[in-house]
Amino acid sequence: MALVEHKRYHVTTFGCQMNVHDSERMKGMLESLGYAQADERADADLILFNTCSIREAADNRFIAHLGEAKRLKSEDPERVIGVGGCWAQSVKDEVFERFPFVDVAFGPGQIARLAEFLASDSLSAQGYFEFEDFSGHLPMKREREFQAWLQISQGCNCRCSYCIVPSTRGRERSRDPAELVAEVEALVADGVREVTLLGQNVNSYGRDLGASRTTFAELLALIDGVDGVERLRYTSPHPKDMREDVVRAHAELAAVCEHIHLPLQSGSGSVLKAMRRTYNRERYLDRVALIREHVPDCALTTDIIVGFPGETEEDFAQTLEVVDDVGYDGAFTFLFSPRRGTEAAELGDQVPHAVKRERMARLVELVQRRARERAQRFVGRTMEVLVEGGTRRDPGQLRGRTRHNKAVNFEGTASVGELVEVEIESATSQTLTGHERLLSRVP
Ligand code: SAH
Ligand code: SF4
Ligand code: F3S
Repeated sequence: MALVEHKRYHVTTFGCQMNVHDSERMKGMLESLGYAQADERADADLILFNTCSIREAADNRFIAHLGEAKRLKSEDPERVIGVGGCWAQSVKDEVFERFPFVDVAFGPGQIARLAEFLASDSLSAQGYFEFEDFSGHLPMKREREFQAWLQISQGCNCRCSYCIVPSTRGRERSRDPAELVAEVEALVADGVREVTLLGQNVNSYGRDLGASRTTFAELLALIDGVDGVERLRYTSPHPKDMREDVVRAHAELAAVCEHIHLPLQSGSGSVLKAMRRTYNRERYLDRVALIREHVPDCALTTDIIVGFPGETEEDFAQTLEVVDDVGYDGAFTFLFSPRRGTEAAELGDQVPHAVKRERMARLVELVQRRARERAQRFVGRTMEVLVEGGTRRDPGQLRGRTRHNKAVNFEGTASVGELVEVEIESATSQTLTGHERLLSRVP
């Protein structure tokens, strides 16, 4: 019996949602070239890494994986090893000097060139690092049929002094709104109910589109207007661009969810200044007040960096104060990590590691306490949940998310991809628990 032998690929993704989405494009593109996905790296003819460089830990995690790829390549030299994404972009051709077993390397704006490399007979290593185009025209393999990412812009024009992203993803470029609406229509026709707009600075969308530009709030309205979009989310916005029209969209547009991720980074004015965040503590808290005024029940989450160079105990106490005042529904907390080529890496007065860790422990304790307190407001309420799957521990239990982006474990009979009503019985800082209300399916 003749078996058609497909070549197989394996992709490992590090980093943010943008990278997760870029990997979906890589997979879609590879499958259109006749490749099939391999479950294990060892079974793949093409081993790809989509890398991140946001913190040192991200680099280290990737380097450890690369060791296995090296071994697999030495066992079978026909295998192709590819490295894409932000780490690749930040070191460029140095990849090949440091890791001679790598065959192809490409930056985040160069996904399409991977196909070109695979189709060529080139035996020499190739690097592609000039931003060329959005990957919107590439096929895409989504993780879940009913949820999709939509990249609305690329790059970042901010100059946050700690951040490597502007140098890996380049200047900001927005995609054409008509093209985005068409993409959403196609996604809905393909079964998507929840769309998450992606951009490094997602709410500065449109600045580069010229005189007749569409603002971010207008784009939200355009996408909300596509029939079949039940939930609309976006990440990550910058507080400086969180204007009233965007906040009102959460109150006025049916699909726009009651959740805003509003990265704080620090509660201290002098640290924010050194970070070049372009807002101070008061302006940030004004944004929070505006959100609470228009969307009182809105979930708020944030990102915080601990131990930025020069951060004093007094600065850190101000961060704790803001966290306590705002009462976030959740927060990602990071130890400051000096990144090559960034301004903050060159600053004196680096905070000792032990001090960073001690501050982090206090911060996490407060974040969790406030999140747990905040989550109690859901207990006793019936919440709409989009079912994402079963829970790992108990297959009889279902797991999904509310519009507030809270994870919910619940007893029920719903299928994956359905919207159901769940009565919430208890809440921890991270997870709600409840049971499905029977006969109450949202059509
Ligand atoms: N574009 C998004 C996300 C940037 S990366 C935004 O601006 O919100 C996600 C988070 O990683 C940042 O919000 C920041 O909190 C953290 N981060 C970025 N660079 C860092 C560094 N050098 N050290 C520690 N944390 C960092
Ligand atoms: Fe980095 Fe700041 Fe741009 Fe976010 S806004 S990607 S933190 S430079
Ligand atoms: Fe990492 Fe690049 Fe995203 S550095 S966080 S993968 S934009």
